Amino acid sequence: MAEPAPFLTDIWYFAMPSAALTRGGMQAKMLLGQPLLFARGNDGAPFALRDICPHRGIPLSCGRFDGKEVECCYHGWRFDGTGGCTAIPSLVPGQEFDLARIKVRRYALAEAQGNLWVWMGEQEPDGPPPQMPDMEGRAPNLTEVMEFPCHVDHAVVGLMDPAHGPFVHQSWFWRSAKSIHEKAKAFGPAPYGFAMKRHKPSSNSAAYKLLGGAPETEISFRLPGIRTEHIVAGRHRIVNLTTVTPLDANRTEVTNSFYWTLGWADLARPVLRRFVRRFLGQDRDVVVLQQQGLRHDPTLMLIKDADTQARWYYQLKNEYGRARDEARPFVNPVKDTVLRWRS
Ligand code: FES
Ligand SMILES: [Fe+2]
Repeated sequence: MAEPAPFLTDIWYFAMPSAALTRGGMQAKMLLGQPLLFARGNDGAPFALRDICPHRGIPLSCGRFDGKEVECCYHGWRFDGTGGCTAIPSLVPGQEFDLARIKVRRYALAEAQGNLWVWMGEQEPDGPPPQMPDMEGRAPNLTEVMEFPCHVDHAVVGLMDPAHGPFVHQSWFWRSAKSIHEKAKAFGPAPYGFAMKRHKPSSNSAAYKLLGGAPETEISFRLPGIRTEHIVAGRHRIVNLTTVTPLDANRTEVTNSFYWTLGWADLARPVLRRFVRRFLGQDRDVVVLQQQGLRHDPTLMLIKDADTQARWYYQLKNEYGRARDEARPFVNPVKDTVLRWRS
C-alpha cells in the first residue's frame, strides 16, 4: 500500500448535524485541511465560506455575525452568505472601489434529513447529497461524534473491516473471540460504492432481537466515507448512518447517527448513546495504537476475503479521481460477489 492518497474532491462530505448550527450562529471547522466558516442566517438558511479574510488573511470566524453578514474583526470588512463583500468601512466618499471584485470562496452546502453536507471541489454539485432510505422529513434521533487521530483512509478501512469485531468489540453482552464463526455475505455494486445485500443479521447480533419481528438489514458504503445500515423489522425502520470526514491529514471525524421509527427507542436513548460511544471508542482506541506502527511507514497488507471491502474502497477512490481528471463517467469497479470470512 502506497502513501495515503490525497483527499477526494468534487464530492459531498458530511459537515455536521443541522442542530450544531443555530440561527444567527457561526462555527469554524477544518475540513480536508481547509478552514471553513459555517453560519446560519436569521432566515434559517445555512452557508459556508472559506474562513480567511481576503484583505489580510485573518479568519473571518474571529469576527462577528449579525445573522446576515460576517464582519471581519480586523478592519470591519463585511461579507454576505454568497461570499460577496458588502462594505469596507475605511473608504471615504469619492474613493472609487468596486466591492464586487472582492469575493470570499463560497462552498455549496445542502441541508437534508437533519444534517449539513458540504461540496468540496471546484465543480458545482452533480446532484443532492446522499439520502437515507425511509427517513424523509426526519432528523437523526441520536448522534455521536468522535475524532480519530488518523488519516481518513485508516478510519474508513478500520470501520468497514469485518474481521476486527471479535477482538476489538469484545464485551459480555455483545460477543467474544470464542464466538467467531464463518460467514458468507453477498455483495454488489451500489452508487459510488457497494452494498452487502439485504439479509438477516447473523445470530450473534443479539441487539437486533430487541426490535421484535424478523429484522433484515442492508449495509451500503459510498464514497467518500459514508456507511448506511438500513434495518427493516416488521413495520419499523432503523437507519444507522456513519460518516467519515477528514479534518486534515491526521485527524478524521466519525459521526454515527441513528434514525428510527420506534417510539419506545427514545426512552432507550441514554443507554444506546453509551453503547454507541463505547463501540466507537473501541474503534478509535485501536486506531490510536495503530499510529505507533504507522509512524514507521510499514508496508501493509490487504488479504482476501476479509479485506476485500477495503480493497474496493481504494479502487473506488482511484476510479472516482481518474474519472474526474479524464472528464468521463465513473465506472464502478465492484462486481457481484460472495465474500467469506470468519468473524
Ligand atoms: S483583515 Fe479582514 S478586514 Fe482587514
Ligand atoms: Fe469496529
